[in-house]
Amino acid sequence: MTAKFKRDFLFGAATSSYQIEGAVDADGRTPSIWDIFSKIPGKIYNGDTGDIACDHYNRYREDVELMGNIGINAYRFSISWSRIFPGKGVFNSKGMEFYKNLVNELVKRNIKPVVTLYHWDLPMWVYNMGGWLNRDSVKWFTEYAIKIFEELGESVKLWITHNEPLCASIFGYYEGNHAPGHKNLQEALKVAHHILLSHACVVKEFRKFNFKNGEIGITLNQIPVYPATKSEEDMEAAFIRDGYLNRWFLDPLFKNSYPEDMKKIYEGLNVNFDFIEDSDLQDISIKNDFLGINYYSRELVKFSPDSPLRFKGVSGKFPKTEMGWEIVPEALYDHILRLRKEYTKIPIYITENGAAFNDRVLKKVEVRDEKRIDYLKRHLIEVAKLNQKRMDIRGYFVWSLLDNFEWQFGYSKRFGIIYVDYKTQERILKNSAFWYRDLIKSRVIK
Ligand code: BGC
Repeated sequence: MTAKFKRDFLFGAATSSYQIEGAVDADGRTPSIWDIFSKIPGKIYNGDTGDIACDHYNRYREDVELMGNIGINAYRFSISWSRIFPGKGVFNSKGMEFYKNLVNELVKRNIKPVVTLYHWDLPMWVYNMGGWLNRDSVKWFTEYAIKIFEELGESVKLWITHNEPLCASIFGYYEGNHAPGHKNLQEALKVAHHILLSHACVVKEFRKFNFKNGEIGITLNQIPVYPATKSEEDMEAAFIRDGYLNRWFLDPLFKNSYPEDMKKIYEGLNVNFDFIEDSDLQDISIKNDFLGINYYSRELVKFSPDSPLRFKGVSGKFPKTEMGWEIVPEALYDHILRLRKEYTKIPIYITENGAAFNDRVLKKVEVRDEKRIDYLKRHLIEVAKLNQKRMDIRGYFVWSLLDNFEWQFGYSKRFGIIYVDYKTQERILKNSAFWYRDLIKSRVIK
């Protein structure tokens, strides 16, 4: 089929602060939980850290120029909270200046800035005061957000309060593979709650600014879960896994409640929900202007009586990316239909989609990443199909603009449409970047 995109459909690219900026102690920035976590031996592949990363803090002009060459309409980046507030109540104008300059460069090139306020790099000073486990974190995050609204104001097209609360809470506080590396379900659910509450508080404050230009929402990573067989047990296992990954965040945001079935399961694992106060769920279900969706892959699960949540992952039949994630664009299609039916009609942006492959530079100038092109193309075709069905998807952001620090995998996984040589910091546009450039111009996939 031919896939077509409207003139005002936003084609973008995304990054996050700790993954690309480097300059971790420049101009008054203080450490975040990721600075500390990445230095604990054994946590990150090869002992990699974000200390230098893509050195974007110093090279942002060059990077924005590359964005201009590719012709992207919008650039999604995140702000490092500890650059702006290196300590409680201490505003750092030097750190702010970096983001102001970045935004100016983008605006100059007609690239719409899309700002994520939190992409997991919690300042250590917040962590030391209890972090997201302390309900006061909601207040501190809101103060930080208000300052950013004041400073960047109307130049920002889209504001995203949080990137993937699932990862910041469940992966960071229960599974322990993300910072701060805790393994406590009670904590993880409390953290998730405070993160959602902070989202709501920030949206409420944002409304007071009455910006003419600028909309606000949250980004959830969505992992559609499929049962390995049609057996009742596997179907139930898939539903529980969906509760753990997806419904736990969707329900409070759009249905004003946590899923009862999951609450019962968690209570059976000794979680108590006394951290939920009376009006919290009412607050969390505040109206958003849009919903951001990050989609990479689906999951296939089967019933497993021995695991605490009674499911276990199984390997699917589709080809996989370098992350070992199955490539299933159709699952994005099905999932958006489900979101529309069960949850919300507000505009959707695909705020991340992309793939890591084992890219190699040929003759120092070319990266033939045909598999990535195929991945992006197939997912974008699904997006176009969804829009033909009036699913109101307003934009798509490739993850990622640059190869970068892929969390616990360090620099071993390359997601960029721009190759980064970490020794020299040289950037090379991969063939996918040229393909994307042509698509943005033509707005047609044949
Ligand atoms: C995150 C990114 C990450 C990407 C690939 C998303 O979950 O927002 O920070 O690099 O997935 O794993």
